[in-house]
Amino acid sequence: MRKRIIAGNWKMNKSVTEAAELARAVVEGMKTATETEVVLCPPFTDLTAVAAVIQGTPVGLGAQNLHWEEKGAYTGEVSAAMLLSAGCTHVIIGHSERRQYFGETDESVNRKVKTALKAGLIPIVCVGETLAERQADETAAVVERQVRAALEGLTDAQVAGLVIAYEPVWAIGTGVVATTEQAQEVHAFIRALVGKLCSESVAAALRIQYGGSMKPDNAGQLLAQKDIDGGLIGGASLDARSFLDIVYA
Ligand code: PGA
Repeated sequence: MRKRIIAGNWKMNKSVTEAAELARAVVEGMKTATETEVVLCPPFTDLTAVAAVIQGTPVGLGAQNLHWEEKGAYTGEVSAAMLLSAGCTHVIIGHSERRQYFGETDESVNRKVKTALKAGLIPIVCVGETLAERQADETAAVVERQVRAALEGLTDAQVAGLVIAYEPVWAIGTGVVATTEQAQEVHAFIRALVGKLCSESVAAALRIQYGGSMKPDNAGQLLAQKDIDGGLIGGASLDARSFLDIVYA
């Protein structure tokens, strides 16, 4: 049985004070026990403040990016060791906004995944097609290319321990959500692909999140799908109530 994982990707939102407040509201709202793993992914500047709030709670902390090198002259970059020292357990890698606006490539995603795993961080690896790619019937080809590249050179045990987030780019921040059938179809495709690349048991253990306008009113249906093991939530994670409604969906 795969443990459901709901992560909030706060993107470039929240000051230090606002982040601590939001984290506190999430922690307080989680007084009812849940089997779901919950991870908050604030901007770098908010990590330590959120870490202090969630300390001693089951809530995990994720960063939104990292650099693949260990240290050195890389102005503006943040290393895996820095994330660990700030209290991170997880790190989002290859989000479509990073691919689209900041030159992230399949190759850099793979390097970052390896660095994160080596450091003991759980990568949340994002894949997904654009609208043009979906309309050109290239969804499977694009997702396959991204998954193969991201997992290149990893051991089966490493793959089993990471998280893949399927995020159709056309559904991110647009309010347009993939239908449950569209989402389930790609999730099943990714699981089958990992079955071929690794093994059936790795595929069975792998957790695959859906991301792209997941909200309290559609989360239940999406999360009920056989191959959807959680959500990577953007907009709806900026409000404690709506994020918690998804956690308890
Ligand atoms: P959204 O973002 O929920 O605002 O669509 C999801 C994501 O980019 O992770």
